Amino acid sequence: MLKATEAGGKILQQYFNGPFEVSSKSSLNDLVTEADKQSEKAIIEVIHSAFPDHFILSEEVGAIASESNIKWIIDPIDGTVNFANGVPICCVSIGVEKDGEMILGAVYNPFMNELFVAEKGKGATLNDKPIQVSKNGNFNQCLLVTGFPYKWEESLNNPMVVFERIIKMGLPVRRLGSAAIDLCWVACGRFDGFYEHHLQAWDSAAGFLIVEEAGGKVTDYNGNRYSPYQKTILATNGHIHQALQDLVNGK
Ligand code: IPD
Ligand code: CA
Ligand code: CA
Ligand code: CA
Repeated sequence: MLKATEAGGKILQQYFNGPFEVSSKSSLNDLVTEADKQSEKAIIEVIHSAFPDHFILSEEVGAIASESNIKWIIDPIDGTVNFANGVPICCVSIGVEKDGEMILGAVYNPFMNELFVAEKGKGATLNDKPIQVSKNGNFNQCLLVTGFPYKWEESLNNPMVVFERIIKMGLPVRRLGSAAIDLCWVACGRFDGFYEHHLQAWDSAAGFLIVEEAGGKVTDYNGNRYSPYQKTILATNGHIHQALQDLVNGK
């Protein structure tokens, strides 16, 4: 897994200062760059050379299905809009699922030289050093992070309503532009909590395991145990989880 993450990270560094092709996907600002595609290609090559039969689910190519009970869930660049604009808050994110359970996760931001890794039951690390979520239990003094969807859909939980509640409480809230990094920064205690309304499996597969293994709590908005196939996510240090859950649900 780490070889694959490294291969993707190298591509991000090579392309970062451009020039590279950029095009739109589901909406004008839902971008994909040449670097997303090349990073994905490099990552899949590394995985396929070692495990030709494994199932792959990756943002730009979709599913490369197989009968294998091992599935690699890949985001070749999480934070593409940042990347396309030269903002170095972006990463490669790779999660490995076995029999439907996430067992390994790695998130690598080559621009900050930060590699987050977690193995189910064995804890989480940042550059090989163990990490822990924050200890803050005071919701009125916590630092939150969130993200917004590319496309406004009335049917989604309304992100503006939740945002308004937080701002009215005077709580500091950030929007980095990379869900995988948001999760890792909860895991290492920089943020106390993260919430987002509409993620895809590749955004959160690695990051949610990293938060859990760092002692945090990850659920959907209803408090159910999280799976990366759910759309809503709440990831916290555990202490403020109920308070954040109540807030997103307007209780
Ligand atoms: C996006 C980022 C962003 C989140 C979006 C994601 P991408 O992923 O994680 O923070 O708000 O929902 O789609 O497109 O940069 O891989
Ligand atoms: Ca994308
Ligand atoms: Ca993503
Ligand atoms: Ca992506």
